[in-house]
Amino acid sequence: MLAAFFDARQVGNVGPLGFRRSTDLSTLLACTERLIGEQIIMPGRSTFLDLGCADGRVNLFFSYLMRLSVGVEMEEWTLDEYDPLEKELTKTLMTSGMTLPKKNLHLFHGDAMDEGVHDRISQETGLSLSDFDLFYTYLMMHEEFAHMLAEKAKKGAIYMVYGLNHIMPRYPGFRLMKALSPVEGVLALYEKE
Ligand SMILES: C[S@@+](CC[C@H](N)C(=O)[O-])C[C@H]1O[C@@H](n2cnc3c(N)ncnc32)[C@H](O)[C@@H]1O
Repeated sequence: MLAAFFDARQVGNVGPLGFRRSTDLSTLLACTERLIGEQIIMPGRSTFLDLGCADGRVNLFFSYLMRLSVGVEMEEWTLDEYDPLEKELTKTLMTSGMTLPKKNLHLFHGDAMDEGVHDRISQETGLSLSDFDLFYTYLMMHEEFAHMLAEKAKKGAIYMVYGLNHIMPRYPGFRLMKALSPVEGVLALYEKE
């Protein structure tokens, strides 16, 4: 139901907000089933960071599955959309007697490349970039983020890049998980070496 709620409120697929297209959560749900099957997501244990989280919809989606669901967004007005959407979603889920997202979300305003932001994440969640299990981005800045994570993420951390197709870039310091990627034709997975 959460996927349907947000997929009815897609942003940027047409018009001037293309730079902040939003993940199709129904597609991500299909990807997630595979990721759990492959033990890439460990329900209740994995920690997740969305680099460029916009209105936090991917964070809300993953809050059910992750121990911590963290996002960083540079555009404050975009992040400001989180509260009203979360309230409306909660109302919708309660009316239908559905489980609400967990209170394990932490969203930060700032540049995901900025060490000051990493420090704030660490102070609030206790996690530094080298502790996260899973990183996610929807294409924007994917190379710059890969470069940063090649330095800061732990060995075995997974970098997920949404919005790709069969042409998948390679990032130094990461191994493309070829047997799985692109999951559902859209999500490429990379393992930190
Ligand atoms: C394509 S949207 C994806 C939003 C969300 N992750 C999703 O999948 O629905 C990318 C977002 O990344 C943000 N962004 C781009 N560069 C960033 C940076 N260096 N730090 C934080 N946010 C950034 C943009 O403002 C935009 O909202």
